[in-house]
Amino acid sequence: MNKEERKAHWESIYKDKNQNEVSWYQQVPSTSLSYIDIFKLPLTARIIDIGGGDSFLVDHLIKFGYQDITVLDISAEALSRAKYRLGDKAKKIKWINTDILDFTPNRKYDYWHDRAAFHFLTNEKDISIYQSIANEAISDNGYMVIGSFSDKGPEKCSGIRIKQHTKESLKNIFEKHFKVLDCVPVVHRTPSDTLQHFIFCSFKKIPETK
Ligand SMILES: C[S@@+](CC[C@H](N)C(=O)[O-])C[C@H]1O[C@@H](n2cnc3c(N)ncnc32)[C@H](O)[C@@H]1O
Repeated sequence: MNKEERKAHWESIYKDKNQNEVSWYQQVPSTSLSYIDIFKLPLTARIIDIGGGDSFLVDHLIKFGYQDITVLDISAEALSRAKYRLGDKAKKIKWINTDILDFTPNRKYDYWHDRAAFHFLTNEKDISIYQSIANEAISDNGYMVIGSFSDKGPEKCSGIRIKQHTKESLKNIFEKHFKVLDCVPVVHRTPSDTLQHFIFCSFKKIPETK
């Protein structure tokens, strides 16, 4: 799937399906939110949700008082839906509509969150580009969380093939610049009542030696 096809795929998903008709829907993203406590992130932390779509993570972050939140997604439709839901509060958020592989960060982030977007990168070249963009974008000692389907999880998501990950595969991809803090299996119950096995790994950026 090339970039144009990828964008078209996601735009049509968000045009055709309601929020609770997609498998990744969750009203309270409890695993993602748990890292806020684990990392003891201050309210001024610069947070970015990669492939955030119209997920509710941002609603909770606003409620907690986080002041510097960015949501990045390939689908303009997904971001419009999130903005519509948030109403006036949407103005508090920075919205970036791009393919992550084309993202050129012009600032650093303290918490990079990705639930079920990274696993759509299935070839080594794209994974390596993502890795170097994350490395560029995350501050020294900043945190990153990647939630991906695990080796016990589905082979497809939204009808397209994904790459399953394990603690080892994620560690291998990111260990050059990130220390692995923890990896936990997470089981997600979809709106149609099936179970999806994820692995969530958290990382801390190793400061660059000058
Ligand atoms: C399975 S959904 C997960 C949405 C959200 N993270 C959540 O947990 O509810 C995957 C999201 O990643 C976005 N996405 C997929 N590939 C992307 C890419 N290459 N760059 C940016 N966003 C992408 C999709 O538009 C979609 O919103």
